[in-house]
Amino acid sequence: MEYDSIKKIYNSYAHCYDFFFKQFFHPRQKRAIEELVFKPGDVILDVGVGTGLTLPLYPSDCKVIGIDISADMLKQAKKKVAERNLTNVTLIEMDACNMSFEENSFDHVVATHIISVVPEPVKVMNEMRRVGKVDCSMVVVNHFVSSNPMVAKVENFCDPFFRKIGWRMDMRLEDFVDAANLEVYKTSQLNKIDLWQILHINNNKEYSLQLDN
Ligand SMILES: C[S@@+](CC[C@H](N)C(=O)[O-])C[C@H]1O[C@@H](n2cnc3c(N)ncnc32)[C@H](O)[C@@H]1O
Repeated sequence: MEYDSIKKIYNSYAHCYDFFFKQFFHPRQKRAIEELVFKPGDVILDVGVGTGLTLPLYPSDCKVIGIDISADMLKQAKKKVAERNLTNVTLIEMDACNMSFEENSFDHVVATHIISVVPEPVKVMNEMRRVGKVDCSMVVVNHFVSSNPMVAKVENFCDPFFRKIGWRMDMRLEDFVDAANLEVYKTSQLNKIDLWQILHINNNKEYSLQLDN
């Protein structure tokens, strides 16, 4: 999937995204954010914020920056910000592979349901680590191929269809962790059969540098 086609896909269904996906995605977002510990004044980056389903879940005494490449998804997020008077939120059209933030800018970096959407997931992770503080909490919510061979077969079979609607279904957790040199210290799931995982990642930059060399 290329950058322009991803943008086109999400622009085209921004207006009905919540109607179709909120029921599936929101409980997992809620769980992931509940697992984080926020302090007043913390600065949070939400990568691929989409229509802003996560935005009301963050504490109002934290500053939240949401980025996305789809102007129409952001338009929906802006509506939520206005309706709920979320004065702590700033939304910016920006590519997660090439962020314009300084290094070590964020206390929390959150990415829900975006890693399987982008063509270069490792680049996104590298950017998330660059802009996150060393001790930041970094959480990724994403679908990974099931360890159950039967389920995995179905997922791989469905992959071409899901690519047409904007994400891949064939990403293996081990491959992603290896490719991005991630130190995942905790994983959780909504329930035992959920196909999505919540990954808590250590932003120990020395660890990633050691592995890079
Ligand atoms: C499946 S939606 C998830 C939205 C939201 N995080 C959620 O969980 O509901 C994926 C989002 O990632 C955005 N996206 C895709 N590629 C991106 C990129 N390179 N940079 C920033 N956002 C991107 C899409 O526009 C879309 O809004």
